[in-house]
Amino acid sequence: MSELRIWMNGALVDQAAAVLPVNSAAVFYGTNVFEGLRAYWNEADEELYAFRLQEHFTRLRESMKMMRFTVPYTDVDLDEAVREVLRGNAIREDVHMHLVAYVVGVGMDATAPTGLYINPRRRGRISAAGLSCCVSSWTRTSDNAIPIRLKCGPNYQNGRLALLQAKADGYDAPILMNAQGHVAEGTGATFFMVRKGRLVTPPVTADVLESITRATLIEEVCPNVLGLEVVEREIDRTELYVADEAFFCGSGYEITPIVSIDRFPLGDGQVGPLTRRVLRVYMDVVRGVDKRYAEWRTPTYRGVTV
Ligand SMILES: Cc1ncc(COP(=O)(O)O)c(C=O)c1O
Repeated sequence: MSELRIWMNGALVDQAAAVLPVNSAAVFYGTNVFEGLRAYWNEADEELYAFRLQEHFTRLRESMKMMRFTVPYTDVDLDEAVREVLRGNAIREDVHMHLVAYVVGVGMDATAPTGLYINPRRRGRISAAGLSCCVSSWTRTSDNAIPIRLKCGPNYQNGRLALLQAKADGYDAPILMNAQGHVAEGTGATFFMVRKGRLVTPPVTADVLESITRATLIEEVCPNVLGLEVVEREIDRTELYVADEAFFCGSGYEITPIVSIDRFPLGDGQVGPLTRRVLRVYMDVVRGVDKRYAEWRTPTYRGVTV
C-alpha cells in the first residue's frame, strides 16, 4: 500500500518532505498541541466520514489558547484541509489522523511562528479480545502541573512511562490514578466500568482529557440509543477489582474492552455483554450505518457546506 501524503501548511507533501528544524520549539520542547481522530469508510454510501470534526477543532483551539499560540487557520480552513488530505490520498478505507499545531520559533517562550500539519495513517483496532491492565504506580499529572485537559505532545510522556512499565511487567496497558488517588484514565483513552448494572466514568475534573468519545457516549449514545445513563463520579482503586466490566474509549481506542485489572478477572474474564453493546452501537454511529447524528459525520467526497 502506498504511503499517505501529509497536509502541511496548505500543501500535500510526501512524508519525507514533512520536516521541522531541529532547533524549533516544536522539536526540542515538543511545543505542539494536537488532535487524534478517525474517518470511517462506509461501503454502502461509498463515502468516508470524519467523526466529530468540529469538536476536535474546538478542543484544538482550547489547547492553543492555554499554550498561548495561534494558528492562522479558521475552522472552515481546517475542515477543508481535512477533506483535502483525505481526498488527495484517495482514501477509501478507515483511517486515523493526527492534526498537529506546532511552534517553529526557538526557545522555551516561543509562541510564534506556528505551523500545522495533518498526518493520515492506517491504524487498526487496538484489541477486540480485551486488555489485561494494571494500576500504574505512575501518577497522572495534575491540572496545576501539566494539565491533561491540554492536549499537547509532552503530556504523553506521563502515559509513556506508565505504558512501558506496564508492558515490562507483562500487562497490555496501565490505568493511571490521579494525585488524589482516584482513577483518572488510560494513556490515551477514557476509562469506563460497569458496576451493578450501571456505567460509571470519572468526572472531567479527575485529571483526564475532556474526551469527545466520552461525551458522545454520555450525552447521546448511552442514554438515547442504548437507554443507559452514565454516572460520572470518582472511582476508587478497589472498585476496579470488583467491577463487572470495563473498557477504554477514545477516538483512537474506539471502544476497547478490558478483561482484567491487576490480574483480577472482571466478570467471567471475557469481554462483557454491555461493553459489546456499546461497541456495536458506537461503531454503527461513527460509520454511518446508524443514520442518526449525521451532523457528526463530515463526508469527504460529497459536497458539503461548512
Ligand atoms: C489522554 C487521553 N485521554 C482520553 C482520550 C480520548 O479522547 P477522545 O475521545 O477525544 O479521543 C485521549 C485520546 O485522544 C487521550 O489522549
